[in-house]
Amino acid sequence: MSTALRSQAWFGEGVTGGHLRAFSHRSRLAQLGYEPGEYEGKPVIAVLNTWSDINPCHMHLRERAEQVKRGVWQAGGFPLEFPVSTLSETFQKPTPMLYRNLLAMETEELLRSYPIDGAVLMGGCDKSTPALLMGAASADVPAVFLPAGPMLRGNYRGQALGSGTDLWKYWDEHRAGRIADCDLAEVGCGLARSPGHCMTMGTASTMTSIAEVLGVALPGSASIPAVDSAHHRMAAKVGATAVALARDGRKITGFLTREAFEDAAATVFALGGSSNALIHLIAMAGRAGVEFTLDDFDVISRRVPVLANLRPSGEHLMEEFYFAGGLQALLHELSAVDGALHPDRPSVAGGTVGGHWDQATVHDPDVIRSPDRPCSPEGGLAVLRGNLCPDGAVIKYIASQKPSLLKHTGPAVVFDDYAELRAGIDDPVHALTEDSVLVLRSAGPIGGPGMPEYGMLPIPAYLLEAGVTDLVRISDARMSGTSYGTCVLHIAPESHVGGPLALVRTGDLITLDVEARTLTLDVDEAELTRRRDAWQAPAPKFERGYGALYQSHITQADQGCDFDFLARPGHNPQPDPH
Ligand code: FES
Ligand code: MG
Repeated sequence: MSTALRSQAWFGEGVTGGHLRAFSHRSRLAQLGYEPGEYEGKPVIAVLNTWSDINPCHMHLRERAEQVKRGVWQAGGFPLEFPVSTLSETFQKPTPMLYRNLLAMETEELLRSYPIDGAVLMGGCDKSTPALLMGAASADVPAVFLPAGPMLRGNYRGQALGSGTDLWKYWDEHRAGRIADCDLAEVGCGLARSPGHCMTMGTASTMTSIAEVLGVALPGSASIPAVDSAHHRMAAKVGATAVALARDGRKITGFLTREAFEDAAATVFALGGSSNALIHLIAMAGRAGVEFTLDDFDVISRRVPVLANLRPSGEHLMEEFYFAGGLQALLHELSAVDGALHPDRPSVAGGTVGGHWDQATVHDPDVIRSPDRPCSPEGGLAVLRGNLCPDGAVIKYIASQKPSLLKHTGPAVVFDDYAELRAGIDDPVHALTEDSVLVLRSAGPIGGPGMPEYGMLPIPAYLLEAGVTDLVRISDARMSGTSYGTCVLHIAPESHVGGPLALVRTGDLITLDVEARTLTLDVDEAELTRRRDAWQAPAPKFERGYGALYQSHITQADQGCDFDFLARPGHNPQPDPH
């Protein structure tokens, strides 16, 4: 089925286009070097490219965009590349999370304001995936996501290194005096050996896998290593797919249904994926007009086993996962769990999502487990409630290094912000013990700002030296998907807006009970009221600019940290190209 092309309103028909503006647009296309036959009647495909010199995870996307365009031309489309903002997890401070909604806005407005019939969204480094999908959902055009692909496995003296995960591990080894400067330098060079996003099951691999299971990326595409030739071929196929979707007028929200988000959540758990996915999925669902809450995740987590034996919770890396059959093979195994997935949803590749994963097989049953031999019988992520987190908190309990801490009461040691924590954590004056509950505040969406990934709070050197490898740690921060430890995250409301976390004092007893899904501050209500009355709101972080826009419109973690004016339903007019 072919539908009228949106770009037609810009270009018109015939030599002049039939109206002054169309004539002008045609004249400018001539200036760009195109003959009318190259674009007339063809779907215009915007290739949104997050390549940048500062983004090692996307350094191959400039070349990959050429392969996308090859696919677009071959399928009879007209490709136009748009450089868009890059969200480089490593380099952008305080955190690219501050700018996720900015890229989402840029994506939406580019797709709305230019003569575009369809889009290819190129990304992979953590927040770029949700940002592009949120923007495309709000613009609601036909679109395909092109996952940047994981980098090759790291190497240190013949051992496989995981980006992120092993960074933290060897840094702690160095702090504890167990490895020398030169050894650490060697680790530094071996952690990230090729273009591509982090190759652990961190936020990047989690989010690109989500795009695939939602049905908006090609089946099998998210697991292909960035530098594999299969990634080049996939890019060309993505270009051709965007043309087919644009011709048929199949918009992205047709794929982003409630069932699709349930399957995405189930996949996050089956992968042992990143806790960041909860925030992003809530925000993405909101853009698609689907209500999806923290409680949905807890319900789904309990019915889904962890099947991927991948770091940080398991042993392997994305390269092994790809060779073991990749995400499609995992979905095939997961589909055997009653009610875990909805196979009859559509895929951008045509047919149903289930029709694709039905074809897949597992080649290494240690890397991709079957439901009767899972890594963990439940999803490994719990949503907590209690007087310390009335709007919820999250813990990825399979990343705990000491399972006895999952039910624990201990005295709080409170740091008011990250600078204070960093400066003071190793000072013995705080006298932390293995029973202490380490508390960080001012690390939420507004207080952070941007909810930085501080959530894996550092263990004091004096405890590391004594052999302590884990503590209960709680904050309103996020945690990198490659981190580990008994870390309670995303406490809502955050301390900066006066959430109960702001009222905790050193020495207060805090109880974490993952089984009961509770996080409790053992201080009576009268005392809490006294502390609340004495609490003074901190000064705003930003006085002007994007930061000021951000802090006045960002929602809390349980709402997805979208901007309230972007999250709400509503209709904006299409631009008139005349
Ligand atoms: Fe880009 Fe990890 S730094 S995905
Ligand atoms: Mg990360």
